[in-house]
Amino acid sequence: MIEVKGLTKSFKNKVAVEDVSFSVDCGEVLGLLGPNGAGKTTTIRILATVLKPDAGTAWVAGEDVCENPAAARKKIGVLTSEVGLYERLTAREILKYFGQLHGMNMGMINDRIEEMVELLDMGDFIDLRAGTFSTGMKRKVAIARTILHDPPVILFDEPTAGLDLMAALAIYRFVHRCREEGKAVIYSTHIMGEAARLSDHLAIIDNGKIVGRGKLQTLEEKLGVSGLEQVFLRLVGEEVETSSSNSLV
Ligand SMILES: Nc1ncnc2c1ncn2[C@@H]1O[C@H](COP(=O)(O)OP(=O)(O)OP(=O)(O)O)[C@@H](O)[C@H]1O
Ligand SMILES: [Mg+2]
Repeated sequence: MIEVKGLTKSFKNKVAVEDVSFSVDCGEVLGLLGPNGAGKTTTIRILATVLKPDAGTAWVAGEDVCENPAAARKKIGVLTSEVGLYERLTAREILKYFGQLHGMNMGMINDRIEEMVELLDMGDFIDLRAGTFSTGMKRKVAIARTILHDPPVILFDEPTAGLDLMAALAIYRFVHRCREEGKAVIYSTHIMGEAARLSDHLAIIDNGKIVGRGKLQTLEEKLGVSGLEQVFLRLVGEEVETSSSNSLV
């Protein structure tokens, strides 16, 4: 459902993503882990057709993100921690606007909004202006916006950053639901517990390169360590130390 082949992207002389390849099937969650600046957001932005890669490409639900970005975009929902909402619009108006952008008709949009209100418990604020919302309320509107057009591929980039436990749990339930519905999911996070709990497979990225890929158990066995934190440290620990000492020079 998601196929990434040899993605490479540089900004000026900084290689952000280098020869990244992986795939995600229907009903599968790939946990994308890596230290700050590793290339996670860049990879997700390329998949979401926001950035063009210098080399390589990716397919989402059969659509080439470089050759058919408009078609690919229809198959994708993206959820990040930076929720930009039009503050003067109500949650319902925001969702209607996005539904129209996705080419949905009004009947379909209204039906989906009712489903979202129920799924995400938004009844109390669906007709209030977004400018008055708490972070958790904004995130719910963002989730609804992400899945309004029912895309088969969902990309999460640190979706729980800044959320309290209850709101984070709502996101975890949402990820489980996506998996049950057979969606292909990429979940990028810094939180090891979150990644271990939600992911079927892991891809660990460091300095733009994939340094480990597979099921947690397989990686544990290969490296002879126990737990995702140890796996992560074994795969990126040295590089983290080197790069931080370099940055002090
Ligand atoms: N628009 C940009 N212009 C210049 N450099 C960029 C740009 N976007 C990303 N980079 C650089 O590319 C590298 C990868 O950044 P990216 O945001 O993909 O990392 P990340 O893994 O998402 O990090 P974090 O965990 O901090 O979110 C970094 O060195 C970053 O400074
Ligand atoms: Mg990022």
